[in-house]
Amino acid sequence: MTRPPVYLDHAATTPVRPAVLEAMLPYLTAQAFGNPSSAHRFGRAARAGLEQARREVAQALGAEPNQVVFTSGGTEADNLGIVGAALAARERGATMCAVVSAIEHKAILSAAHAVCHLGGREVVLPVDQHGRLELDALDQALAGRPAVVSVMWVNNEVGVVQPIGEIAGRCEQAGVAFHTDAVQAFGKLPVDLATLACTLATISGHKIGAPKGIGALVVRDRKAIEAIIHGGGQQYGLRPGTENVAGAVALGRAAALAAAEQGTEAERLRALTDELAARLRAGVPDLVINGEGAERAPHVLSISVPGADSEALLMHLDLAGVAVSSGSACSTGAVEPSHVLVAMGVPRDLALGAIRLSLGRDSTADDVARAAEVMPSVVAKVRKLAGVLGRA
Ligand SMILES: Cc1ncc(COP(=O)(O)O)c(C=O)c1O
Repeated sequence: MTRPPVYLDHAATTPVRPAVLEAMLPYLTAQAFGNPSSAHRFGRAARAGLEQARREVAQALGAEPNQVVFTSGGTEADNLGIVGAALAARERGATMCAVVSAIEHKAILSAAHAVCHLGGREVVLPVDQHGRLELDALDQALAGRPAVVSVMWVNNEVGVVQPIGEIAGRCEQAGVAFHTDAVQAFGKLPVDLATLACTLATISGHKIGAPKGIGALVVRDRKAIEAIIHGGGQQYGLRPGTENVAGAVALGRAAALAAAEQGTEAERLRALTDELAARLRAGVPDLVINGEGAERAPHVLSISVPGADSEALLMHLDLAGVAVSSGSACSTGAVEPSHVLVAMGVPRDLALGAIRLSLGRDSTADDVARAAEVMPSVVAKVRKLAGVLGRA
């Protein structure tokens, strides 16, 4: 009997949780499908769902409901945060400069490039060999009074956690807006914006059991950003367009569940990830754990296999029934090593042999055992192929 495949790619996306699906369905079909801007009962039902969702997201994050701006996902929220802050700076005659870390998701790095295309500047801050932000470089950048600084809470490729309180505090002291991409942190670490000096924060639904295509930007100071798309006056004019009510309801429910379960789930995932790392190392003694010297989120494990190619590892693991990712899922197909590993100074050979295993709510000890069981033979096969092809 063939065993069902093992999914170890939760940092790329997660399945929709049944309770979340159940919560959103009435907003797609008969009962509450209305336009939330309509004054009649259909519209009012949709508006009630939308506002309840805003409260749920706010509560889960330690924010106020009127600080939650729903977007089409993490990418849009990141763009609204960075480009929106640059546009607001231009409006008030300030420096149109975005400061970002070198290991940000492409959504942030590309948004910072977009600021340059708009006539502004970008500053890319280095990280150390473990993936932690160089705080001296941050201080230097802050002295230039940029429009916004953006540093991700948890890196999506290696799971490294930044000293986000420290970074936010330095930005606050300098009077500079601070944005954090909390997409991989929320639900895995305690995220309480009430105790963090951040101006803007991004979350994405599909990483926490809501569908793809819904996310939110928490905006704690509306003057900090300008809208980047234009239309009606929805969502304080910051993100016009008829709201994705069902998506927002899903995000609200998923966020509430993620916040409630965070502590126990993080502990469970940490134990599973540690077990996975230990077993993989036992089977492939020369593998390298990327970001091993830093604090890491409980759900992400990035390993590099010397003499193996990450795409080949991914394909052969898939054939063996284990789904993982090579670096960032968003840049699949690229033959260049991941920009995150390059920024950490990982040697090219190791960066080209990196894969990411990421766990989630439905991951079990059996999944871990299975991945560890198939890895040595997959590595041997890929190394042999690399030898035949003359790479190793
Ligand atoms: C850290 C981080 N930021 C942003 C995104 C983009 O989110 P979305 O897929 O909702 O656009 C992702 C998704 O891979 C991510 O991991």
